[in-house]
Amino acid sequence: MPTTSVPTNHDAVYAPSVPELIRQMRRKGQLGFFMDAWRDYGDLAHLKLGPRELFLVVHPDHVRRVNVSHADNYDKLETYEGVRELLLGDGLVASRGELWRRQRRLMAPFFTPRAIEQYLPVFVADTEALLDRWTRLAGQGLPIELGDEMMLVTAAVILHTMFSTESSDDMLEIKAAVETMIRYVASDQQSPVQLPRWLPTPANRRYFKASELVHRYIAALLAQRRSLPQDQWPDDLLTKLMLARDEQTGEAMSDALLRDESITIFFAGHETTARTLTFLFYALAQNPDVEQRTVAEITPVLGDRTPTVEDLKRLPYTLQVIKETLRLYPAAPIYARDVVADDQMDGVRIPGGTRVIPFPYATHRHPDFWPDSERFDPERWTAQAEAARHPYAFHPFAAGKRICLGNNFSLLETHVIAAMLIPRFQLRLKPGHQPQVVMEGTIASKNGMPMVINKRL
Ligand code: HEM
Repeated sequence: MPTTSVPTNHDAVYAPSVPELIRQMRRKGQLGFFMDAWRDYGDLAHLKLGPRELFLVVHPDHVRRVNVSHADNYDKLETYEGVRELLLGDGLVASRGELWRRQRRLMAPFFTPRAIEQYLPVFVADTEALLDRWTRLAGQGLPIELGDEMMLVTAAVILHTMFSTESSDDMLEIKAAVETMIRYVASDQQSPVQLPRWLPTPANRRYFKASELVHRYIAALLAQRRSLPQDQWPDDLLTKLMLARDEQTGEAMSDALLRDESITIFFAGHETTARTLTFLFYALAQNPDVEQRTVAEITPVLGDRTPTVEDLKRLPYTLQVIKETLRLYPAAPIYARDVVADDQMDGVRIPGGTRVIPFPYATHRHPDFWPDSERFDPERWTAQAEAARHPYAFHPFAAGKRICLGNNFSLLETHVIAAMLIPRFQLRLKPGHQPQVVMEGTIASKNGMPMVINKRL
């Protein structure tokens, strides 16, 4: 990991042969490969990987240029073709141009800090279900797989807020199907060779079956709501999307768009938050002093109660712990943009037609902005420290016009879950286990995150 400034090596291009690239990716994984490229080639590392030419974007000035000041030149073109075709259709993450602008305008009001407070009771109820399970498991000494536990709670949250799904069988079925689709896309994107989709391979068959199930489920939900008078529709995100009208044209979303946006919210919103929570508990287990301070903050505020929005305002240190987790373990360690026309950054020519890879995992370790960057230190998040820092030294949610739509949602959800679980349970890594941090679409531990749960006294 670099400990000094990381100058851009202006002339060097890293262009390994294809067999060498495959060997390196196998050995280091995508995340390790890009981190080494940053260390060896600097803040605008220029890579030629097979037919692809790309630049890593690490320095906060460049993060700002790509996302904010020159955002129109860094678009989502062919880079997002795979997810568009296989998973998200015209949903917000992958769409662009006028369609994206209209959809973002329509959906933004449902995700403001005020608007999402409505979902607090859902966050609380789904965490209570987890609390019950953990109360039964605590003290048995058997490790749980924390990643799976967190995926279950965040999937429940998204399915309840989105669709008011009541049956837990439906919930598990939809969760499994969307996760099958996500895994398929992730492996499709990382694989050097792509077999035709029509081949009846087990992976292709699983994907099409899952995709059909999800599409059928959403179509049935839409039909069922339309069969009822509007005042009987549940007050959830799907109803809000169904009722939304474009202020300029008065148009409603088509059924295909309602489906694509629903899948998009599920895709974007559950795994990312689950990963954040998983690494948060890992960080606490590794830093008992931080853990103690967090418990000491939460206990007197909540006692035995579940949190309200007012309570959460009185838990600022817990929020600092969440932000520090997002710094060291950003759930989306990289994202990507296609370069529309030639540009220059820091004297380096960025040709149109190439790709830039904003790289939060590296920016968040940049020695010029984060001293002793590997240390987990929530003190970096006092209001004063934040105000003194470069505004784009932290971009776990991207930045600018395409900043994550669900950032407030995710922070509130994580705050609630953390505030309810941390004072009740102490989690410790299974003895001898050393997590291997990798990128599997989102940040993950390759060998899992087995944790032993104990009740706090
Ligand atoms: C810790 C949790 C989360 C992280 C780290 C995260 C991160 C991100 C990032 C990096 C992007 C930009 C992706 C790109 O440009 O390719 C993004 C976009 C997006 N996220 Fe999140 N996200 C999180 C949670 C959520 C949640 C909970 C929701 C919904 C409830 C959500 C909905 C979206 C949507 C709709 C977009 C597309 C926005 C647009 O292009 O207009 N995200 N997110």
